[in-house]
Amino acid sequence: MALLDSLDMDKPRAPARPGFRQRLRNLRNRLVADAGFQQKVARFPLTRGFARKQSEALFRATTGFVQSQILFACVEIDLFAILASGPLSEQEIASRTSLPLASVKRLMPAARALGLIRSAGNEKWTLDDTGAVIHGNEGIRAMIRHHAMLYRDLADPVALLRDPTRVTETADYWAYAGERRGRDVSDTDAQTYSALMRSSQDLVAAEVLDAYPLGSHKTVLDIGGGEGAFLAASGQRHPDLSLSLFDLPPVAERAKLIMQGAGFGSRFTAQGGNFFTDNIANDADCVTLVRVLCDHDDAAVLALLRNIRRSMAPTATLLIAEPMDGPGSGESAAAAYFSFYFLAMHSGACRSAEAITALLEDAGFGSIARVHTRNPLFASVITAKPAAETVNID
Ligand SMILES: C[S@@+](CC[C@H](N)C(=O)[O-])C[C@H]1O[C@@H](n2cnc3c(N)ncnc32)[C@H](O)[C@@H]1O
Repeated sequence: MALLDSLDMDKPRAPARPGFRQRLRNLRNRLVADAGFQQKVARFPLTRGFARKQSEALFRATTGFVQSQILFACVEIDLFAILASGPLSEQEIASRTSLPLASVKRLMPAARALGLIRSAGNEKWTLDDTGAVIHGNEGIRAMIRHHAMLYRDLADPVALLRDPTRVTETADYWAYAGERRGRDVSDTDAQTYSALMRSSQDLVAAEVLDAYPLGSHKTVLDIGGGEGAFLAASGQRHPDLSLSLFDLPPVAERAKLIMQGAGFGSRFTAQGGNFFTDNIANDADCVTLVRVLCDHDDAAVLALLRNIRRSMAPTATLLIAEPMDGPGSGESAAAAYFSFYFLAMHSGACRSAEAITALLEDAGFGSIARVHTRNPLFASVITAKPAAETVNID
């Protein structure tokens, strides 16, 4: 029988006939790829709008890198700050930015097409909504600027996909990530990435704290809490909350100085250490991980969650907030961006809520729940408790 089986296995097998749904999809793909069919769809009144939307989406995907560079140029020349004080002519913009007039004439309509600026009449330009948002948020400008590094790393995406260990600037920038697992992070490394994280935290904190107000808790421990921006936002909303932070020693030292300067005094404490290996002193009834798990591969995330689990009181809550993959358009757009970001960074993953749930369960957590946020581009939220409590409750 075994011999017959092995003979059978050696026979070339006919490819399996695709199922009904796949045959339908193949037919549809053949039709959509056909230029004649495309023209018919584009002309027919009932399908014309759909065809236009499809071609605009394809155009955006094809040319998106040019749009990013237009945005980058506007940030680099400080266009939004310059226009925030009032409408300016192209000649005035040229002299304020030291660009040739012909370049300003090229850049302004391009910036208008992206909704960054608009005509103010009298041949002058003023901020449009998106430009005003960028002007009002240093974090967004810092993010756009730091993309210059990612842009260089992704210049040859196939080379990076073929060899994901290729040297990249993004991996150097996040000095704690990947195999380094937080070892040997210098003051300078910590300062560079922490400043970016702090300046981009306010939108995330607003989103998370609206979704999960911390008012029912007494003490929050923010692990990988950076310079304390999330705790500062939490403390401002809830004046009775005690705030405590764990991060790498150079980052924790920076957090102490910044939080003292912001007037949090004895409400705030910080511990320096390595969250994979060091004991975490933890008397908090809420432990937060904001934009932390996504930086690391599964094995590292498990080690971290187990270490946190050991430190937690049985009734305490763990809150995880970060961009998560999912079926919504915001979630999948965030996941596409982060999956290539993490490729260049040499570690991390934009996980689905289900994948995070599986890791939490492996690490000994239960009572796992999703908390709805308004904008999954900034963060989705999951809460959990040490599993022993779940067993007791159930
Ligand atoms: C992406 S930043 C997020 C910072 C902050 N939670 C935020 O959202 O702005 C990740 C943080 O984890 C910290 N971190 C990374 N590896 C660590 C380790 N092994 N031990 C302690 N902290 C670590 C970093 O120093 C950094 O502050």
